[in-house]
Amino acid sequence: MDSDKHSITRERLACLLNEDLAREYQAVISYVTYSQVMKGAEFMAIAKELESHAGEELQHAMMLSKQIDYLGVAPTTTPLAVRMSDKAEDMLRFDLESENETIRNYRERVRQAESLGEYALADAIRRILCQEQEHQIDLASALNIEVPKDGLGSNSSPVTPVMERAPRVLAKKSA
Ligand SMILES: [Fe+2]
Ligand SMILES: [Fe+2]
Repeated sequence: MDSDKHSITRERLACLLNEDLAREYQAVISYVTYSQVMKGAEFMAIAKELESHAGEELQHAMMLSKQIDYLGVAPTTTPLAVRMSDKAEDMLRFDLESENETIRNYRERVRQAESLGEYALADAIRRILCQEQEHQIDLASALNIEVPKDGLGSNSSPVTPVMERAPRVLAKKSA
């Protein structure tokens, strides 16, 4: 009865988790870098947030490495490439797009782990997922856009990049 579902194996799951790990390392690097190079008074608050995201992504990488090793596979040491821009909005958008993808993947990973009876692994991924959703909200808020409808949408319905941020005048207070 359950054989009609495309079944996942532990090997396949470990391989997918390694892709997730590469994305976590990418997230660490992008949050570390973006939080330090982001310019503009209006972005200082979110830059601080990004710093704390960096630490959380590192914990995710740690957790995934442990689980991948537990599945008998060598954890990857190669991050996905990090995109760069000198515009703060671009950096936030890159991060948001990555978080959206990450959330889609982890939802799938929870289902896959459970289908293999790997409930502890499923729980570990659920905890990571909660933090990724918070990251997603932080980024969407900073960009003044709606949080993507639970990040589930297909890739064909990307977040609408409405950047109607009112131009801010950074005039010095005249003395
Ligand atoms: Fe993460
Ligand atoms: Fe994240």
